[in-house]
Amino acid sequence: ERSMQEITVNGTRHVVQAAAETPLLYVLRNDLGLNGPKYGCGLGECGACTVLVDGRAARSCSVPVGLLAGRAVTTLEGLVAPDGTPDPVQQAFIDAQAAQCGYCLNGMIMTVRALLNVNPAPGEGEIREALRHNLCRCGTHVEILQAARRACG
Ligand code: FES
Repeated sequence: ERSMQEITVNGTRHVVQAAAETPLLYVLRNDLGLNGPKYGCGLGECGACTVLVDGRAARSCSVPVGLLAGRAVTTLEGLVAPDGTPDPVQQAFIDAQAAQCGYCLNGMIMTVRALLNVNPAPGEGEIREALRHNLCRCGTHVEILQAARRACG
């Protein structure tokens, strides 16, 4: 049953018509036109759809939109400063040229951002642990880890 859902994304409050159980990912992409979060598996397993909810990493394909009233959702788009400056994590991924197809990278960047939000100086083990469940089908994990180290260094 569709009803009004209130959601705050990248600092802007929106009211959308959706069933409470609609995955946040669908609302972000289809209602709000944000394509930072990607649809990978739809099952909470790949990390392509990762966003921040109150600063913590969340898999938006597996979060019902109805749970988000009063919470702050941040997508990749929201990491960019108003003057267009990328977040240092984005810049590190650009500098490291970590992308092959790039589909997984937005989720990787959001996951590293979430790690840094709670741990400003993570070690190698903590970086690997944070990214362990973000999948990259191209197999560029070596470059991705280099980018993550650069972002955390
Ligand atoms: Fe959400 Fe894969 S699309 S974890």
